Amino acid sequence: TPARIVVDDDYEIADVDPRVYGSFVEHMGRCVYDGIYAPEHGSADADGFRGDVAELVRELGPTILRYPGGNFVSGYEWEDGVGPRSERPERLDLAWRSVESNQVGTDEFLRYCRTVGADPMMAVNLGTRGISEAVALLEYCNIPGGTPASDLRRRHGTEDPYGVKVWCLGNEMDGPWQLGHKSADDYGKLAAQTAVAMKRVDPSIEVVACGTSKPIMPTFGSWEATVLEHAYPHVDHVSMHMYADPDKYADTADFLAAGVDIDEYIGSVVASVDYARAAGRHNRRLSLSFDEWNVWYNSRPRDLGNWPHAPRLIEDTYTLADAVVVGSFLNSMLRASDRVRMACLAQLVNVIAPIRTEPGAGTVWRQPTFYPFALTARHGRGTSLRPSVSCPRSTTTGHDDVPVLDVAAVRGDDGEHVVFVVNRSTETAVAAELDLRGAPAGDRTIVHTCLSGPELGATNGPDRPDAVAPATHEAVPLRQGEPTVELPPGSWSMLRVR
Ligand code: AHR
Repeated sequence: TPARIVVDDDYEIADVDPRVYGSFVEHMGRCVYDGIYAPEHGSADADGFRGDVAELVRELGPTILRYPGGNFVSGYEWEDGVGPRSERPERLDLAWRSVESNQVGTDEFLRYCRTVGADPMMAVNLGTRGISEAVALLEYCNIPGGTPASDLRRRHGTEDPYGVKVWCLGNEMDGPWQLGHKSADDYGKLAAQTAVAMKRVDPSIEVVACGTSKPIMPTFGSWEATVLEHAYPHVDHVSMHMYADPDKYADTADFLAAGVDIDEYIGSVVASVDYARAAGRHNRRLSLSFDEWNVWYNSRPRDLGNWPHAPRLIEDTYTLADAVVVGSFLNSMLRASDRVRMACLAQLVNVIAPIRTEPGAGTVWRQPTFYPFALTARHGRGTSLRPSVSCPRSTTTGHDDVPVLDVAAVRGDDGEHVVFVVNRSTETAVAAELDLRGAPAGDRTIVHTCLSGPELGATNGPDRPDAVAPATHEAVPLRQGEPTVELPPGSWSMLRVR
């Protein structure tokens, strides 16, 4: 059966917040050291950041970068990472059993954001530390001068404040693995008090309260309700995290249906946050910050070692199938763009990342997951539209009656329509008609960019950096009433209609 995708300009969901195309830089493994930062590399800038990596980061196009963790932030002393590098202490990073050299810290990171054209999303340590350290870091970043922390920044050579707008109030505080893990009651009070204090320093900031760290947390739902009982009036966003683990699905067909779980999870987080809104009689709606998401082979064994510096941690090699699921994550977020206003692909380089590096010249490459992210971040802008989709349905081991196509659509500010389509079938190509209602009449064409291939397990590597890469079919005529695009099995497509 041919499929039909109807995109009607009248069915607007919301403007797409560009901050949904964020990523994440954690002091973990080789994300920072030996990843974005390698002072001995021929392309390194004055701060020691690799130029060839920065170039790929710009191509990837993250709009916002979360930093410095992750689990790392819950033991981090930000003061260790500022000032003359020769005086910075080495510390034990208790989250990842590594040694932290502190050669990259707040100032270097904030300069890196400028280099790659992203805004920062800073996290404060609410694990081993509290309100006063968070306030001091905010002063360091955002106050022009005249206080100890802001004058310290000036002494370190940065006269003007950075103006960091977005602040995460800790990380995954619902998780027993988190340093300083707290009950929902204790965290809710601390998050509320920290938000109040930070907003007194700079009322223009937006703060993110920790929501659930994964869908299977036993506290999911009640965590949000209790935290928000305390914090609702003081925060702007609630975080959610999710990693899809291919090994936890029965087979590839089941894994390609992961988008169903992502939709379901977003819906449940919205419901939990809106429950708190109703119970607390609040008018303002909170938005979601999906600030860690990705595919992660999380159930595979990993060895943290005995206090190494920048070890190889969770450097997952991604397949074409993983890239297709990354496309589904993005589609789910676009369909929920009225509530998901920020999101971060975790992480940026080496650690479960779209970009991988090896020391030495020329060794940086794009994983298959790079492409759906980069292309959606570039073209998935404007207003998201609710598509109507008729297509075959299938049942996988863990998912009943799943539409074989996973579709999201936007209308760009320049009037271009862009439709993102995942074909979840591992076997069957789908021919689809695209019916663009309400769009101006005339001779329009579709530019079809497609990530597909004969092997869903195909990967890229330093010796085959382009084995998985998208192909673009220029100018397919848009013929109303008949199938015009061919969506290969196990593929991600971007259809730009001009
Ligand atoms: O991104 C890797 C880790 O996953 C982060 O440090 C933590 O927040 C999450 O559990």
